[in-house]
This record gives sequence, C-alpha cells and structure tokens, in this order.
Amino acid sequence: MPTNPIANLVNRSNALPTLHELFPVPCSLFPLTPTPYSLLPTPYSLLPTPYSLMPDKKVFTPEITADGSFTFFCSEIGESYHSRQGAIEEAQLKFVKPCQLAEKAQQPVLRLLDICYGLGYNSAAALAEIWTHNPHCHVQLVALELDSTVPQAAIAQGWLNHFANPIPQLLEALATTGLVETQQLQAQLYLGDARKTIQQVQQAYFQADAIFLDPFSPPNCPQLWTLEFIQHLAQCCSDTGRLATYSCAAAVRIALITAGFTIGSTIEVGNRQPGTVASFTEADLPSLSIREQEHLQTRAAVPYRDPNLSDSASDILHRRRLEQQNSLLEATSHWKKRWLREQRE
Ligand SMILES: C[S@@+](CC[C@H](N)C(=O)[O-])C[C@H]1O[C@@H](n2cnc3c(N)ncnc32)[C@H](O)[C@@H]1O
Repeated sequence: MPTNPIANLVNRSNALPTLHELFPVPCSLFPLTPTPYSLLPTPYSLLPTPYSLMPDKKVFTPEITADGSFTFFCSEIGESYHSRQGAIEEAQLKFVKPCQLAEKAQQPVLRLLDICYGLGYNSAAALAEIWTHNPHCHVQLVALELDSTVPQAAIAQGWLNHFANPIPQLLEALATTGLVETQQLQAQLYLGDARKTIQQVQQAYFQADAIFLDPFSPPNCPQLWTLEFIQHLAQCCSDTGRLATYSCAAAVRIALITAGFTIGSTIEVGNRQPGTVASFTEADLPSLSIREQEHLQTRAAVPYRDPNLSDSASDILHRRRLEQQNSLLEATSHWKKRWLREQRE
C-alpha cells in the first residue's frame, strides 16, 4: 500500500501538517531573491500607469473594470487578466460563490488550490469570504503561477488593499517570498508551468476543498484546459470539493465530465456568460440549460488534448482541429442555426 504522507504526519504529531511538511522542498521554483521593489518605478501614482518590473520583460497595462477594480492587459496574449465587467466581481461570482466558501468556512481547516494565481484576486476574495464567516477557519492555500512578476505588480499597484486586513499583508508576503505561515494561513506559491507544478501538488496528496481554474481563454492558453491537465486537477480535489471556472466552453465541460466530475452552470449576471462549477458528489449543482446540454453534443465539445503535458499551444490547437474534422458530432455552426430556427418556430 502506498503510504500517505498526510496520514503519517497527522498520526505522528497529532496536528495538521504544515504546507512545509506537505511540500518538503518548498518553493523550489521560487527565486531565492525576490525582485527588489527598488526595480519598480516610484512613487506610485494613484492613477495606475503602464510599467514593467524589468525593462526587458512584459509591460503591465492597467485597465479599470466595470466594478471599479483594476486589472492588467497582457499584450503578449492579447487578453485582460480579468473580465472587463468587473475583476473583483468576477472573483466573487465565478469562483468564490460557486465553491460555497461561506458554508465550507465552518470547517476548522479549508484547503484552496488556486490555478493561475495571477494578481491574487481569487485567493484574496476567497480569504475575505472565509474569514467573514469564520475568522477562526485555518486556510491552507496552494497557488500555481507561471510568472512571479504578475502578483508582485498587483501588490505594487496597491490593488490588494481593496480587501480587509490582514489579507493585503499576507498576500504581499506570498508574492515576495512564496511562503506564508501564520496561525490563520499557510500558503505556498509555486512558480512555473502549472502542468509541472500540479504534479508536485498531487504527489503531496493535497486534497482541495475548492479549486479555482483561471487560465487565459482556451484558444490562447489551451495547455491548461486539456483533458490530461483537468484529470490531474481531479486527483487534487477532495471527495466533497468543488472546482470553479469562468469558462463555459463545451470542450472544457466535457473534459471535466470525462475526468469524473458532475458539472453545473454558474449564474449569468448582466450579459456575462455563465461559468462552470464541478464536483464529484453533490447533487445540488445548478443544472445546465437545454441549450448548454445540446452544445455538449456538438464538435465544440471535442476536448483539448496534451498526452504528455508538454505540447505547445499551437500543437494542442492543431491536434484538436484535426479531431474535430474527423468527428461524427454535429458541426457547432450547424447546430446554432438549427437551434435558432427551432426557437423561432
Ligand atoms: C487570467 S490570469 C489569472 C488571474 C488570477 N486568477 C487573479 O485572480 O488575478 C491567468 C494567469 O495564468 C498565468 N499562466 C499562464 N500560463 C501559465 C502556466 N502554464 N502555468 C501557470 N500559470 C500560467 C498567467 O501568468 C496569468 O497570471
């Protein structure tokens, strides 16, 4: 029988393992010397301006969103880090609420897995929700992010100050050192390609109560929406855990179902698309509309594949296009026309 390090640790000390113990080589990917703040332009104006942490690195262009919170535009990808309809609102409506963190906060310990930590809004909104409902809830947060300069840039702009103390201070420590160990929070930021770091999380038997899946969109970042990556996420989700994502793409939903999840649709607000919430056990997931169910029967539902978790975005997109061409499923454009015609009749 494989030994479970968590069980061993609990037995040995009669106390919950620290993230240090769960991940014995903490933050191996994290630079030992965090980017000194002196590299940042000072003083920070209240009106954010585009800047780069390192002259040869990406430029972060601040954008205001409809709820008054700020995000960055990523010129490399051609996409914002959040919905323009509200960055913090998106964190609350698409991630925190669907994972039922207010209810889960009644547990003494709550484990969060934040895939694509970015500016840290999803984690910050989660901590705010949990500690509003139970200030004594101990949170274990594992966050995966490719680029350390993104969370550091958000801290430098002061955007985390929207959240109540001690959240900004804790997440500043996480962005600069990669590790936080307090009575309320144990957090670790893993830097690198999430396709690799997720395997470390899995090997440590981390079982999340809530997983946030928040990469750039599937056409721009298919690597983190593949069936294989989502199967790794399923391995890191506890039996009663929930996974939430802003995406309602049929390819993502089918990958979640294939990985063993039951899925539901998260609320549509204004002209927002619904997101998706997934869980293994719970029957009370908000159900998919008939239209959403039919969408899953079309070629849009051919999943992204990355058998060795190492292919480039273009290879993953190309593989899927070929699979769609050979698929016996109805073409999505054909189905959309048929659906509209049937609605009119
Ligand atoms: C949409 S943003 C996430 C926003 C974030 N969840 C927040 O609350 O602010 C996507 C993030 O994914 C990161 N990313 C892109 N490719 C990645 C990869 N292969 N592994 C880990 N992170 C990645 C980007 O650096 C970016 O910060």
